[in-house]
Order: sequence, then C-alpha cells, then structure tokens
Amino acid sequence: MTDKTLLRVLHGEAVWPPPVWLMRQAGRYLPEFRALRAQADFITRCMTPDIATEITLQPIRRYAMDGAILFSDILILPWAMGQSLRFVEGVGPVLEPIRTAADLDRLRPERVAEATAPVMETLRRLRRSFDTPETPGLLGAARPGATTLIGFAGSPFTVACYMVEGGGSKEFAEVRRMAYAEPALFDRLIELLSEATATMLCDQIAAGAEAVMLFDSWAGLLPPSQFARHVIAPTRRIVDEIRRRHPGVPIVGFPRLGGLLVGRYAHGTGIDAMALDTAADLSLAAALVPETVALQGNLDPLCLLAGGESLVAEAQAIRDSMRGRPHVFNLGHGVLPQTPPEHVGQLVDAVRQI
Ligand code: CP3
Repeated sequence: MTDKTLLRVLHGEAVWPPPVWLMRQAGRYLPEFRALRAQADFITRCMTPDIATEITLQPIRRYAMDGAILFSDILILPWAMGQSLRFVEGVGPVLEPIRTAADLDRLRPERVAEATAPVMETLRRLRRSFDTPETPGLLGAARPGATTLIGFAGSPFTVACYMVEGGGSKEFAEVRRMAYAEPALFDRLIELLSEATATMLCDQIAAGAEAVMLFDSWAGLLPPSQFARHVIAPTRRIVDEIRRRHPGVPIVGFPRLGGLLVGRYAHGTGIDAMALDTAADLSLAAALVPETVALQGNLDPLCLLAGGESLVAEAQAIRDSMRGRPHVFNLGHGVLPQTPPEHVGQLVDAVRQI
C-alpha cells in the first residue's frame, strides 16, 4: 500500500485526521498566480508545461495539501476537438455554440490526444516533483512522497452545457431543451464526449495521475429521468472504460447539487468516491451511498472567505462528523478569488489539528 493518505482514503480506508485539498486551490486568490496570469492567456497557461506545472505547485508549496489537482480546465476537451474557445475577462468562457448535426460533425475527437500532449507532459513533470526526494526546495512545505496527483475532466453533461449554450448560463435552457426536443442528436453528443473523456482520462493516468475526478457542475439541473440518462449512464461508461484499462485507479464523481439523487449516482456509476456540494448533508449522503465509497467535501467556500472562529468551528464539525468513515476534506465548490490566502492556511491547520 501507499503512504499517501489521500490515495488510502480513496481506496476506502478511514484515515484520521483526514487528507485535505481544495477545489480551485490554484487560482486568483494567490498573488503568485496573479503574477503569472499577466504572462499568458488562460489556454496558453494550460498548454505550457512550465506554467501549468508551476501553477499546480503553488498551493502545495504554501500549504502542503495532500492532493494536487492538475491546472487545466474542463473546456480544454471541446477546444482540443476543434470548438473555438476564449476566456473573456469578467464574462467567462465563450464558445462557438453547437446546435445542429452539422456542428457536431465538425468536431474532431481524433485530434484530442495530439492537442492535449502538453497537458500530459505537465502531469509527467508534476509526478516527478512529488515523488523524487532529490528536488529540495521545489515543494516548499510539502513532504516528498506525500502528495497525490489528481487528473480531471468535466462530465459529458456539464461539458455539453457549455458546448451547446456557447458559454456559461444560470439555467442552461438551450441544452436542456435540446435533450428533450432532439434526443438522438443530444445522445450522439453525450456519447462522443463519453468516449473522448474516457480516453483523455486514461491518457492522464498513463502520464502520472494517481486518481481522477469528474466534475458535473450542472448535474443538479436535471430531473431524475434525465439525470439517469445523461449523468449516470455516461459516467458508468467512463468508469467502466477506466477500470478496464487502469484497474485500481480511484475515480471521484462530483454530481453538484444532485440532492437525493447522489445515492443513485453512487450505486449506478460505480465511482470510488463522491464529492459533495455545500448544500449536501454529509451524514445523510453517507447513508445513501455504499459504505466503501469515500465522501469528499464540503465546507462552504464563503465560510473560508469569511475566516475567523466560524471557519475553524465549521471545518472541524465537518471533519469530526465523518470520523471513522473514508473522508477527504474539501470545499463544496471552488475557492473564491476574494479569499485571503491566510484563511486557507488556517483551514488546513484546523483540519490537521488533533
Ligand atoms: O481546481 C483547480 O484548481 C484545477 C483547475 C480547474 C480550473 N477549472 C481552472 C480554472 C478545474 C478543475 C476547473 C474545472 C471547471 N472549469 C469547472 C468545474 C468546476 C466548477 O467550478 O463548477 C467548470 C464549470 C469550468 C469552466 C470554467 N473555467 C469557467 C466557468 C471559468 C470562468 C469562471 C472563472 O472562475 O473565471 C473557467 C476559468 C478558469 N478555470 C479559471 C481557473 C483558475 C479562471 C481563469 C483566470 O481567471 O485566470
């Protein structure tokens, strides 16, 4: 077995105190991230191994997180298939929307491996930094051999949301309309994304990712029937393909705002761990999922932003409520850009304090 506490928990072991990492732990709240931001646009930062490696390492150096998530984005997959993508300041991602069969036919999944080659190089470098003790200073506070490298992708439904809508949205009405009005077309898009996602995650594992996470940020928009068809079924296909090619690599699912459906999600997809959003009650969720499934989460990012006594109290209450169960401490969603960096240090200390 391994000394990496995060990997042990993802394999179903209860570890005390629990391992901790945070979604969006590399980001705008860190001054060293903002300094690099001026050098290159977002896609260039993702596609330049020197920059992406450095950004991934920044929070590890400061806080010795137990997990390091690759610096990239869920929308790199549609970009790699040829869909145009820009990140606009103050707006977010902007894509050329996919609305018809002809739009879908223009996507080039066979180009993904070549287009994402720099991402795989970043993973190889990161894995070397984490597991090679002879690079003193590189990792700052982190101990060699202790950090688990996490790869990721968006889930087909959430990636389809951005591809069809052409960017962010509160309701994603266009994609939900398409799922009902043109089910054959929508199924084709989901199927194409499922295959490309499984292949890309297997490539990430081959390059050094020790666990992978599927972000389904908009899963909670769907009613149960659509959730079964567009969230659970495609996730199951991705899980099966990864297990076939890389048995033993843990897979974390994040059906954000899935509510009561998290139980069906855990049973139906076969994931090893389930990340829960801020609105989920960890103990109730624990009763709905198989006992071997690790839970991850779920401190409110605003509590982290606020800091102080409530940060320590809330964090330790979450941690203590999961004692004896496999649990990875995390937020319920990503770190907010306005978060003071010292609050992140206080949170990590609170989780690790016995
Ligand atoms: O967690 C990490 O630190 C790893 C890297 C990562 C990013 N995005 C970096 C990023 C991960 C895992 C993601 C996932 C992602 N991307 C999701 C799923 C999780 C979630 O937040 O619900 C989604 C929906 C996206 C799509 C996306 N990317 C949006 C909507 C935006 C714009 C909003 C924003 O915060 O600016 C992005 C850009 C993005 N992705 C940034 C980062 C650090 C900000 C870019 C910058 O300002 O430099």
